Amino acid sequence: MTGRLSGKTALITGGAAGLGLGMAREFLSQGARVVLVDLCAPPDDMLARADVMALMCDATDEAALDAAFTRAEAEMGPLDIVVVNAGISQNSPTLELEFARWRKVMAVNLDAAFLTAQAAGNRMVPRGRGAILFTSSVYGVVAGPERLGYVVSKHGISAMAKALALEWSPHGLRVNAIAPGYVRTALLDDLIERGRVDAEKLLAHTPMRRFVSIEEVAKTAAFIVSDDASATTGLIATADGGWTANGYL
Ligand SMILES: NC(=O)c1ccc[n+]([C@@H]2O[C@H](COP(=O)([O-])OP(=O)(O)OC[C@H]3O[C@@H](n4cnc5c(N)ncnc54)[C@H](O)[C@@H]3O)[C@@H](O)[C@H]2O)c1
Repeated sequence: MTGRLSGKTALITGGAAGLGLGMAREFLSQGARVVLVDLCAPPDDMLARADVMALMCDATDEAALDAAFTRAEAEMGPLDIVVVNAGISQNSPTLELEFARWRKVMAVNLDAAFLTAQAAGNRMVPRGRGAILFTSSVYGVVAGPERLGYVVSKHGISAMAKALALEWSPHGLRVNAIAPGYVRTALLDDLIERGRVDAEKLLAHTPMRRFVSIEEVAKTAAFIVSDDASATTGLIATADGGWTANGYL
């Protein structure tokens, strides 16, 4: 298949659902082969494809994650693209935030991201090429109340993208982050259902006055990891309908 990502192999953590699955579908449509690393299995249509490999793995488990990378490269070839995407939300007043939940958010959003990036770097740096993309968030760019663990972990992700761009770009890699606004995935649906996010207020604050779609985030991600963005490294790219630009009440 020809396409912007033709001949590339991409590994995506958290690739079985939501934004990660959307990126997988977009990368496939642009010609890539895709490895999905997730706690869960992807939908059946993905399992049926020869250009998709699904590996059940907890990205916070260093040994299991490294084994997944090794298996992915053995069966699908050297990885050109790694998307560090697995993440969980945390949305409650800080005075009610239990330490165990704080630790869990840091484990998935930061520890797993470090392990995934290092597993990618271990393989890509010696080869002198590769594109790593982190899924940050608008909360990796600005803060919001009553989601301390999420804000801190996503700022950490944005920092990781910039710091690794400095460290690995001299070796031929590109390291970037995408910062999606509010996208209607299971993660956000749950927050709206529980009354933790007010959809009406959210849209009033968004200059485009609508939610961002999974497909829009996925297309932006596909561009950033493609050779068309060959000068782009250390970028935190918002895909948020203008939400972070809006400081106006
Ligand atoms: N949905 C949004 O509005 C939004 C906005 C900005 C950023 N994000 C970020 O996008 C990323 C994906 O979120 P989403 O909305 O698609 O969520 P989601 O819950 O729909 O999907 C997340 C996927 O990650 C997997 N996962 C969770 N923990 C894992 C682990 N330890 N190891 C392996 N896989 C694991 C889950 O099984 C799931 O398939 C997250 O990093 C999230 O913070 C989401």
